[in-house]
Amino acid sequence: MVAKIIAVVNQKGGSGKTTVSMQLAGAIARRKKRVLVVDADPQGTATRWAASAEDEKPFPASVIGLSAASAKVHREVKKFIDDYDFIIIDCPPAADSPVPQSALLIADLALVPIIPSPLDMWAAVGIRQVILNVEDLNEALQSRLVLNQCQPKTTLAQESLEILPEFGIGLAKAQIHHRQVYRQSAVYGQTVHDFGSKASAAIKEIEALTKEVMAIVKTQ
Ligand SMILES: Nc1ncnc2c1ncn2[C@@H]1O[C@H](COP(=O)(O)OP(=O)(O)O)[C@@H](O)[C@H]1O
Ligand SMILES: [Mg+2]
Repeated sequence: MVAKIIAVVNQKGGSGKTTVSMQLAGAIARRKKRVLVVDADPQGTATRWAASAEDEKPFPASVIGLSAASAKVHREVKKFIDDYDFIIIDCPPAADSPVPQSALLIADLALVPIIPSPLDMWAAVGIRQVILNVEDLNEALQSRLVLNQCQPKTTLAQESLEILPEFGIGLAKAQIHHRQVYRQSAVYGQTVHDFGSKASAAIKEIEALTKEVMAIVKTQ
């Protein structure tokens, strides 16, 4: 089977690209799919995340570092396409790098995590142009915004809602709230699934995102 490719992109650092990449990769791997995370960010956060796991309990998906491939990352990723069911490319901020554009060339789905505050959202609007440019070359590319670090009990600020149409990208139904267990997952090299009942709200969010993503790329 040819792998479905998901590129996790945003203009901005700190919007949740690595968090979404790793939680999604772990959740899909738990469904007995073969999952590869391509760490395309020279900061190597995804690689460190997986390396933080204990030997007895490795991170459930494979992680490789390919940031050195730079604008040729799509060619490198293609080499793995027959060996995995899903390849998730954790990209560096688009403003500093040609990698996101390259990753989007071969992606089935672009996920754009954004923090729903007006400042973060304005800073991320530039990713729209990157996706639009690539859509001419990769007509199959689908895209979704994923709201991350939502605060419970505060509705999305009116200003943020007004900015959403600027992206010209559909909004995923699943949303991710601000929760400590997302940070803890990185420290322990795991996903929220490994934190038991205290993580049940986070597990629900990641499972909803996973189901939505798998439906978009048409794999169950
Ligand atoms: N939903 C969340 N709740 C709490 N902390 C989060 C959440 N999403 C991300 N973080 C934290 O915010 C920081 C930036 O997230 P990260 O996924 O590394 O962003 P990016 O890869 O876009 O730079 C990290 O310390 C991460 O643990
Ligand atoms: Mg990152």
